[in-house]
Amino acid sequence: MTPRDGTDDDLPALGAIAAASFDLDPEDAAELPRLLWTEDAGTTRIRLVAERDGGPVGVLLGSLQGDDAFLDLVVVAPAARGAGIARALLAAWERRAAASGATRSRAGENLRTYAWPGVDIRYTAFLAMLLRSGYTRAKTVYNMDVALDHVPAPTPDALARLERAGLTVRRGEPGDADAVGEHALRLWSDISDVWFRETRAALHREPPPIFLAFRGEQVVGFAAHGIHRPSLYGPIATDPAEQGHGIGAVLSDLCLADMAARGVQVAQIGWVAETAIPFYSRTAGARLGRCFWMMKKTLGGAAR
Ligand SMILES: CC(C)(COP(=O)(O)OP(=O)(O)OC[C@H]1O[C@@H](n2cnc3c(N)ncnc32)[C@H](O)[C@@H]1OP(=O)(O)O)[C@@H](O)C(=O)NCCC(=O)NCCS
Repeated sequence: MTPRDGTDDDLPALGAIAAASFDLDPEDAAELPRLLWTEDAGTTRIRLVAERDGGPVGVLLGSLQGDDAFLDLVVVAPAARGAGIARALLAAWERRAAASGATRSRAGENLRTYAWPGVDIRYTAFLAMLLRSGYTRAKTVYNMDVALDHVPAPTPDALARLERAGLTVRRGEPGDADAVGEHALRLWSDISDVWFRETRAALHREPPPIFLAFRGEQVVGFAAHGIHRPSLYGPIATDPAEQGHGIGAVLSDLCLADMAARGVQVAQIGWVAETAIPFYSRTAGARLGRCFWMMKKTLGGAAR
């Protein structure tokens, strides 16, 4: 079985395979191939499709980014499993990645776009395949979960406190892109390019899934959701000089309410930083949830 490049016509069949396979992602399993299908500026999207009896039975989606080649999604139709299809997709992927000049294949830690920050350890067959194929664990990361069975809302007290501190909050608009970008670049140097891209993407959706806090004209906090997939909540950040007024809690409630209004049942805080666990736990009642291994393998024998 030689995988071929996928085309948009494959998407309905691949959505059905994903829906039948990603049981840990019931809210949007069918959407995942489509969400990861498109190419981001500066990256090359690889779509390998395995076909049998004239129709797709498996897909691998990856992203080439210089030295790094990110394996973003692999799935084989339940009835076609155990026949070496995923292994053939993985081998084709690694050949393609190495030929493009990549020195590492990685499952996880793709900052450009992702459905999961790594491999959910309960997708164990996939993890087993990676371990048997020479991949090793680079990091372990977690999501936190917020059940949206009641709709959160900022309390009048919390809003009054912001007002007393001279702060305002509202939904973001496309015209806020420069002010938000300036905030990200000014304050969050290590991750500013990621947050710059993510907030900009959010501001240009309709309605924008992002809420902002202002002191005068200056953005001093933001919280966004649904950027990479509908159930993902984040990023969120408050200017350190403005922390302690309750900005984060208010923005968080606005975001989660917006997610609930769009039908999300469980918000997942993706790839949560350990330092943020107490914040999400206290403000949103979030609980630690899914555990992911970020996996990597050196390609072509190059030591790295
Ligand atoms: C993981 C998955 C893609 C494997 O597809 P497959 O076509 O059945 O895999 P293959 O037949 O090519 O097997 C390749 C290797 O996977 C591992 N594997 C496959 N099924 C396994 C299982 N049930 N338990 C443990 N390991 C398993 C093995 O290492 C196997 O090779 P080996 O027998 O030589 O060790 C498939 O089970 C699947 O689609 N699962 C749901 C989607 C998923 O979890 N994707 C990962 C997130 S992106």
